[in-house]
Amino acid sequence: MASSSTNGVEAPLNRADEVKELLEAVQELIIPYIGSADDDAKTKHTGHGLALPGGGPRTALVEHHPPKKLEGILNLQVPEARGGKDGLLELVQKLLQYSVNTWDQGFMDKLYGSTNAVGLVSELLLATLNTNAHVYQVSPALTLIEKYTTKFLAHLFGYTSSYCGGISQPGGSASNSTAIIIARNTLYPSTKETGNGPHRFTLFTSAHGHYSVEKAAQMFGLGSKNVISVPVDAEGRMIPEELEKLVKQSKEKGETPFFVNATAGTTVLGSFDPFPPLAAICKTHRLWLHVDGSWGGSVVFNSTYRETRLKGVELADSIAITPHKMLGVPMTCSFLLGRDLRQFWSGMTLPAGYLFHNASESVDEIYDLADLTPQCGRRADSLKLFLSLSYYGTWHFSDLVARAYENAEYLLGLLKKRGDFVTISPAPLPCLQVCFYWARGGKLKGGKANDKATADIASELISRGFMIDFAPGEREKGKFFRVVVNGNTRRGTLDGLVRAIEEAARELGY
Ligand SMILES: Cc1ncc(COP(=O)(O)O)c(C=O)c1O
Repeated sequence: MASSSTNGVEAPLNRADEVKELLEAVQELIIPYIGSADDDAKTKHTGHGLALPGGGPRTALVEHHPPKKLEGILNLQVPEARGGKDGLLELVQKLLQYSVNTWDQGFMDKLYGSTNAVGLVSELLLATLNTNAHVYQVSPALTLIEKYTTKFLAHLFGYTSSYCGGISQPGGSASNSTAIIIARNTLYPSTKETGNGPHRFTLFTSAHGHYSVEKAAQMFGLGSKNVISVPVDAEGRMIPEELEKLVKQSKEKGETPFFVNATAGTTVLGSFDPFPPLAAICKTHRLWLHVDGSWGGSVVFNSTYRETRLKGVELADSIAITPHKMLGVPMTCSFLLGRDLRQFWSGMTLPAGYLFHNASESVDEIYDLADLTPQCGRRADSLKLFLSLSYYGTWHFSDLVARAYENAEYLLGLLKKRGDFVTISPAPLPCLQVCFYWARGGKLKGGKANDKATADIASELISRGFMIDFAPGEREKGKFFRVVVNGNTRRGTLDGLVRAIEEAARELGY
């Protein structure tokens, strides 16, 4: 039986009040959290962040525990009865205490850093709107912002066609894998419906390229063995002659080469592949050239670095850029840009009738952006870059890139001046990673002994308020440190890091 009419006597909604109350309470916790990282910055030059009370060594960076111990501390449980505001705040407090505070200057571990005030506000806006950026009807303003932002980026990279543009993607790996599918479907359109058929497709990427290309090959039935690794030169750049040789060999074996992934800023050394000769090879052999600029593509905002690191990037068919890495835009924010969005459209369209109600005659008229992407549900991540650009202006981004390079060069210079390091990064630095070995007295122990020393020192640094990473080096030399510097890293922090490594190594007996 149908329930009877309410006659307008339902209890009023009071969600706005509830949001206000929770936001204010959470704000009371997150502002001091960010402030603690600001306070800590004052002591970083000493080689030790401020010690804070906690259940283990703790600085503003983190109170770090191994997984099983942290499981015990967090004691996560879903309650049957409502935990309410108090329960929530208790959890927020724990979450902050046991998470890595990326606002801390000492966080130089991965290819991203803290966000900033406008980044935080943009996430709040996205959560408030809770928009799905798949079709225009439900995301009118955010769709236009995505179209505008991607066109802006495409022009910045030097694409001039009226069909240029792009799509937002949930990360650099997604941008790379989407490029692979668009390339295959564009060059071999029948594969879209009939699959790889008789083709044994091959893809090419440098020996230093990101693993997302191989992962995509596994996901799309291409097979990671068909991703051919192209040798690199001493500075980690793909060697064009080697690429051409491998493409020819692949053809001679009856395979179908179709995709070359060049990298703008490799993950470990930060190398930039030479785009013009790679583009010429791709043209000769009818291959799609994709530039994975997930990391180093962001240098495009600075004309000097655009000229010296990204020369010829506009010759690529597609480019990935991931502003959540270098530009302080919150995770995740990545874009796949293309010279001709008509290729994205024909390669991707699958207009499910229940979702896409507007048949488009041309790519300019596409406002239902999910018709260009693998994803149906889409977060409107472009807003975060767009708001950041609006708040700071493009000059700021140009400065940020320049300052980041200056800071990285400063660290490299410090290490070269001291006696206990062997640096690996070439000078001038290709990108913002500074790579080096700990080597007391300039003598590298090498091998497993060095692997252990590197891992132990990196771990010890965490309790001092510094987090840096390491990577496998040549087998006889062993692992080396990789420090990732950004435009907001202060010189005192870098002085303190070098001091902290020296002290930690001495304490550990290395
Ligand atoms: C060169 C390069 N490409 C792609 C990626 C993957 O990006 P994401 O982590 O956003 O998937 C990375 C990650 O660091 C990278 O360094």
